[in-house]
This record gives sequence, structure tokens and C-alpha cells, in this order.
Amino acid sequence: MKSSVHDCSIVSLSKIHNRAGNITIVEGDKNIPFKIERIYYLYDIPGGESRGGHAHKQLHQLIIAASGSYNILLDDGENKKTITLNRPDFGLIVVPGIWRELFEFSSGAICLVLASHKYDPDDYLRDYEEFKSYKK
Ligand code: TYD
Repeated sequence: MKSSVHDCSIVSLSKIHNRAGNITIVEGDKNIPFKIERIYYLYDIPGGESRGGHAHKQLHQLIIAASGSYNILLDDGENKKTITLNRPDFGLIVVPGIWRELFEFSSGAICLVLASHKYDPDDYLRDYEEFKSYKK
């Protein structure tokens, strides 16, 4: 699995603004490069907690700070990069084969995830050493 942290990019999403507020639209295969099979969101995250701590073998994701902010550490086994998500009209594309950790959630943060496949526990690499050998 040759994917690198450099394949994970911030994408600017559409934003339609009017005096009654904003709306952002995400369409699978249109403004993101995969079909959306599943959506989930993390919320009520206690201060100081971190999430993630795994990689996926096949799953592509678009991760959005629908509210608040948090940091994401990306790691491809060789390079690491940390990204702050803090705007609902930007998202981070995470390709398969990338270890990720989400941390420093602001109070009230909502982490919205649009995913390319249904939930599959066999798609997870939850052990860092196993992840490192998978990448070789
Ligand atoms: P996990 O992916 O480990 O969460 P995070 O990366 O945010 O720390 O999932 C947490 C729990 O939720 C785990 O028991 C699996 C379950 N889960 C599902 O059943 N379906 C899903 O689509 C997801 C994302 C998680």
C-alpha cells in the first residue's frame, strides 16, 4: 500500500451564503472523488480525549469539522503531518493506508465523516506495528 500523507488533501466545499445562514453541499463522485456509502459523526467528545488510532485498508473518507475544531495527525509509516480542521466548508480527504489520530477537540466539536464503504471491522488496522508491516 503505497499511499502517502501527501495524497490526503484539504478540499474546499461549496458554500451558499445568504442572510439566513450558510449551506454546504457534498456530492459523491462530484466534488469528492468517491461515492458516499456511509455517514457518521462524532460529538459530545469530552475535553482531552482523542479518537482514531487506526488505519483503513480500503476506505476513503472525507472528514469535516461540521462544528468547532480539532486536529488530525496523519501518518503513512514514513511521514507525518498534522492538520487543523476548523471550518465547515472545508474537508480533509483521507485515502486508504493512512494511520490517523484526532485530538484537541474544541467544546461542542462535531466530526462529520463521509465514507466510501459500509462499516467493515476487517478493514481496520488497529495495531500500529501491524500497520507498519502492512505498509512495507
Ligand atoms: P471507531 O472507528 O474505532 O471510532 P474512532 O475512530 O472515532 O475512535 O469506532 C468506535 C466504535 O463504533 C467501534 O466499536 C466500532 C463502532 N462503529 C460501527 O459500528 N460502525 C461504524 O460505521 C463506525 C465508524 C464505528
